[in-house]
Parts: sequence; structure tokens; C-alpha cells
Amino acid sequence: MTADFRSDTVTRPSAAMRAAIVEAEVGDDVLDGDPTVRLLEEEAAAWLGKERALFVPSGTMANQVALGAWTRPGDEIICQRWAHVTTFEGGAAGFLHGLQSLTLGGRDGRMAAAEVEEAMRPDFIHCPKTALVCLEQTHNVAGGVVVPMEEISSISRVARERGVPVHLDGARLANAVVASGVAAPEWTAHADSVSLCLSKGLGAPVGSVVAGDAAFVERGMQVRKRLGGWMRQAGLLAAAARVALAENVERLAVDHALAREVAERLCGIDGLTADPQTVATNIAMVTVERDGLSAAQVAASLGERGVHVMAMGPQVLRFVTHLDLSTGDVDLLEEAARAVMG
Ligand SMILES: Cc1ncc(COP(=O)(O)O)c(C=O)c1O
Repeated sequence: MTADFRSDTVTRPSAAMRAAIVEAEVGDDVLDGDPTVRLLEEEAAAWLGKERALFVPSGTMANQVALGAWTRPGDEIICQRWAHVTTFEGGAAGFLHGLQSLTLGGRDGRMAAAEVEEAMRPDFIHCPKTALVCLEQTHNVAGGVVVPMEEISSISRVARERGVPVHLDGARLANAVVASGVAAPEWTAHADSVSLCLSKGLGAPVGSVVAGDAAFVERGMQVRKRLGGWMRQAGLLAAAARVALAENVERLAVDHALAREVAERLCGIDGLTADPQTVATNIAMVTVERDGLSAAQVAASLGERGVHVMAMGPQVLRFVTHLDLSTGDVDLLEEAARAVMG
């Protein structure tokens, strides 16, 4: 038996997704358009409360399309210190778009509006132009926390007052929607573009969207072209992604309860600490607190017992729940963790 808590990206497509793939009407999305991709883009735009959306292969490409659409080489973006866009996208902001990143805040994923205001560059020839403020919801490294509406709206306000657009990395926005009870358009009203991953908690095999107004999407289409992200009969992928968006949003509550259960079970084990109260969505962060024992070593030992998890820092393990996990997997995890921690 194995249980994979490394990421919510490991899910396998459901029977309904596989059936939708088989049935999908497709076309050449570059030449004449793919009808199933169009449907997904319309449905995703409506769900996100934006005018248009663009289907792309990954969350990374969704973010990078946004960066390319809003900026010019030499510009600066402001983002949270541990944001995916600056931490886990291989330096793409600089490599692809000639951008530098100014990062704010700490491990808690937070960023104060006053700090953002102070970080925005004056209109001065010696300074780069502040071209974009990036937000992330939920915040991955901070442990799937839901960034409060007040923080999102106040950062957005200070950016927009200066004419700076806001991009929301909403890879896990659906988790924030379910955890907060606040609908996606209310969150995205504070952003000029937003990305959403269909292949994380929502369970599609491949794909993300990036959405905004029509002018943004027109520019985004050119960036997507440059990144090689135009796909041909991509309706096969979009068909599964449509099922993910239609069927798997509300059930994220199950993943959230399971992540809390992970924290509850593990915090009782000597040498591991976790605070179930801080588990807001489908990510539980657990700290290894034993001299001479690292998170990577614990992850390796758990792996030998069939439980897979990622170390997210020298002493921190990140457990991510998803639709291919259930309480039985948490039983397996607890048993393995007790054996590993002695
Ligand atoms: C917050 C966030 N944004 C973007 C991404 C990128 O998604 P992908 O792995 O599809 O490129 C991830 C992936 O984990 C993420 O957590």
C-alpha cells in the first residue's frame, strides 16, 4: 500500500474525465479553433468572473503568460518572498521576460499594503518601472493559507492607484473559494489577471487557464505563442478540465478536512509538531523537531514505508491532500510516522 501526499498534482483522471476525453469534439486550436477548448475557456472565464480566459498547459505557463502580457524587459514586479512565481518557476521572470523581482514578506505568505506601496518605484529615470504586483491565493509555501480579503483588496488598491496592474496566481483559488465561502469573482475583482490550475485539487490530468479582460487575453495569446504553448487538438485535455471545474470544486472541502486530520494525527507524535488550527485548505505543514533529524530524512524514511511527502525546508514537511486520498491513507501515514519517529 502506498499513499502520496507530495502534491495535489498526482491525481489520476476520473472515469468521467476519461469518458469526456473519448467523446470530445476537437479541432486545430491554432488554425481554426478547438470547440472544446473554447467551451472550457468560456466556462473558466465565467467561473473566475473575467471577460476571457486562455487555456495553457501548466500553472507556470499561466503565470508567465501574465507576466509577459503586462511587462516589458527591464521592468520590475513585486511579489511575496515565497511566491511560486519567483520561487519555483526556474527564474522564468528574468529568463523569459527580462524582469527583476522585488520580494516582500516572510514564510507566512503575507505582504502588507503599506510595504507594497513603499516598494513601488517612483517615476524616475534611474529606477525600473514597477509593472505588476503579483498575489497568490492560496499561498503554497505558507501552507495553503487563505490570504485575507482585506490584504488582497488593500494591496490591489495601492497598486491600482498608481496604475500598476495586479496578477493573482490562483493555482489553488478554488480551495480558497471553498474554505472561505467567498466566490471566485469576489477575489478576482481585485486582480487584472488571474491564473487557475485545473490539474491540482480539481483533478484534471493537464491544464490551467489565465484570465482577464479581452485586451489582456489578446496580448496573452501572443506570449503563449512565443512560449510554445499553443496546442492543437487540445480539446482532449480541455474536456477533462471541464469535468474538473464542473464536478470537483465543492468536494475540495473533503480534502481540507483530511489535511486537518493529518495535522491532528501527526502533532501527537513525539518529534513532530503541527497546528491543526492553522490548516485552512488542503496543505498541512509539519515541523520535525528532533536534534540531528531533518525533514528530508523523515521524508525518505516515510517513503520506504510507502508514504510519500515533500520536505519544504530543512525541518518542514508539506502534506497535500487530494481526491485520490482518504482516511485509510492517513491511517497508513500515522502508522509510518510513529514507526519512523520511534
Ligand atoms: C501557487 C502555484 N502557482 C503555480 C504553480 C505552477 O503550476 P504547474 O506545476 O502546473 O506549472 C503551482 C504548482 O504547484 C503553485 O503551487
